[in-house]
Amino acid sequence: NWSMDDFIDLQIEHIRKEVGDKKVLLGLSGGVDSSVVGVLLHKAIGTQLTSIFVDHGLLRKNEADEVMDSLVGKFGLNIIKVDAQDRFLSKLKGVSDPEKKRKIIGNEFIQVFNDEAKKLDGIDFLAQGTLYTDVVESGTDTAQTIKSHHNVGGLPKDMKFKLIEPLNTLFKDEAREIGEKLGMPENLVWRQPFPGPGLGIRVLGEVTPEKLKIVRDSDWVLRDEIKKAGLDRDIWQYFTVLPGFRSVGVMGDGRTYDYTIAIRGVNSVDGMTADFARIPWDVLQNISTRIVNEVDGINRVVYDITSKPPATIEWE
Ligand code: XMP
Repeated sequence: NWSMDDFIDLQIEHIRKEVGDKKVLLGLSGGVDSSVVGVLLHKAIGTQLTSIFVDHGLLRKNEADEVMDSLVGKFGLNIIKVDAQDRFLSKLKGVSDPEKKRKIIGNEFIQVFNDEAKKLDGIDFLAQGTLYTDVVESGTDTAQTIKSHHNVGGLPKDMKFKLIEPLNTLFKDEAREIGEKLGMPENLVWRQPFPGPGLGIRVLGEVTPEKLKIVRDSDWVLRDEIKKAGLDRDIWQYFTVLPGFRSVGVMGDGRTYDYTIAIRGVNSVDGMTADFARIPWDVLQNISTRIVNEVDGINRVVYDITSKPPATIEWE
């Protein structure tokens, strides 16, 4: 609609005036908000924008490639991709407490980001995908006391940047609308919420490469089946969780003793409360069959039928 077109034009004008001939740094997470900011800034100031995308090894299958392909390939953004998988995995080794894991991932993220930022010269501004709801929520700390949420791109404290937050008057659906107006592909604009600590909080307990692979591969199957069923825009968030226990099963003429995968699907407006999604039985059946057949180490699939509250959306 007209007001969103106006918003884009006004923001571009505003950004150009504020930035002048200076340089801007953006922490890209691959999520909707930071991607929209990236494309908007690129439109406004082109090569004066440099983005840093940290691959912490806790992303979904193909996620890093999809982000790079469209933002670099299609829009021509200058993105520095940091492959930090080993750094994160070694820091997480032996750690099974959920809050400790979150803190480690959050801190490591800021460190990796800082290390890269320090290599760049003459940056004056830091851009962030902050939405209106983030501004409001950080004023109260109810959400933070339950789990220490970290948003990718958390401000490096010792760096003296001026902040640019072009979306901080918008709600999520408006940010999506801006993304569509800017010609961004559907898979970026309609991306479901994804937590900063990524798959690291979907492998319960200690994160190992083997367990990450199970979560990543099963999540891939789940997303594929949800898309095939035409439900990808109807379910607010859906993913798999590896609780980490084994149980007995039977395959062919043999006994198995393998892991259980849990499916989580919820509908929500803002993530503060949520209702478990009523995914049709036949869709769940396809998901279950494919996960057991295609993902090594799984012999049982369960569906989480708790809403929030009393459960949270993520299991950690
Ligand atoms: P919970 O598990 O608290 O999740 O019910 C509510 C929503 O927030 C997402 N989530 C996070 N997002 N950083 C984020 O940016 C985080 O640390 C984080 N933890 C949870 C979760 O995926 C759900 O959409």
